[in-house]
Amino acid sequence: MNGELVPWKDAKVPFLTHALHYGTGVFEGIRCFKTPGGPAIFRLKEHVVRMMESAEIYLMKMPYSANEIIEAIKSTVSANQLEECYIRPLAYYGYGEMGLNPLPNKVSLGIAAWRWDSYLGEKAEKVGVRCQVSSWRRVHPSTLPPQAKSTANYANGGLAKIEALKAGYDEAILLNMEAMVAEASAENIFRVKDGILSTPPASAGVLRGVTRDSIIRMAADLGIEFRRSDISREELYTSDELFLTGTAAGVTPVREVDGRMIGRGSFPICERLRKAYSEVVHGREPKFSKWLTPVAKSVAPQIETRTRK
Ligand SMILES: Cc1ncc(COP(=O)(O)O)c(C=O)c1O
Repeated sequence: MNGELVPWKDAKVPFLTHALHYGTGVFEGIRCFKTPGGPAIFRLKEHVVRMMESAEIYLMKMPYSANEIIEAIKSTVSANQLEECYIRPLAYYGYGEMGLNPLPNKVSLGIAAWRWDSYLGEKAEKVGVRCQVSSWRRVHPSTLPPQAKSTANYANGGLAKIEALKAGYDEAILLNMEAMVAEASAENIFRVKDGILSTPPASAGVLRGVTRDSIIRMAADLGIEFRRSDISREELYTSDELFLTGTAAGVTPVREVDGRMIGRGSFPICERLRKAYSEVVHGREPKFSKWLTPVAKSVAPQIETRTRK
């Protein structure tokens, strides 16, 4: 927290932390995987760059450089002696002045790392999840910036998730204000129709997922035809395959939407990409080894270089 490794029980924040009251935080969700060369963090740079950009959108001055955050993330994983884990850096306005203007408050940065198995469940990756098209629409760029991974945006996704779970589904799919598909509550969505892979463009109001980008690049490598194109609600129902991608959820097929079976209940292209993704993140595909950052074995007790800008 703020440049120091602290025991879990001491990682506390004051009750009047600005972000706790007004949703003034930006964060990332990153994974570290077990590879033949030891634990390695997947696309660390891309995640940190997205976090810096989320902060920029909100005029939040990050107290550390991207390189300092990268080193701090590696130190946190290393100090916790985790071979595989989920990593959560969060930059937030701390305790200072209450009221809506966050700018007078100090920006704090914390990083947590813990073991977190597949978000939608191991079984989901094999048999698929059941999704509901939410009655909540994805935040529109005229209300909140959808491309910023801000804590505030997750109030929107959270409402959709609760609605889906209460209706007996596993996950929610949110349409945008133009009634086109945006994404799931915490994953991007891909469609397969007649052998062509597609996903909604960033302009549909999606978070530009790092897994989404990885799948697009891997599809090209595997010779799978791909288009970035809007998907309508009815096109969800008539898909041959649908699948979700995200750091937490990995690559997970969708077997049903609104009680309708998708395709014939098998997901060959999704399965190909899921297996390829698993090879890549576990360091078994040299073509994409540049996406993996090894976690140094030695534990850096403290992050020494700090620049407050
Ligand atoms: C709303 C939302 N969309 C998409 C994603 C997938 O992004 P990524 O693949 O970078 O984890 C996430 C997860 O971070 C998310 O929360």
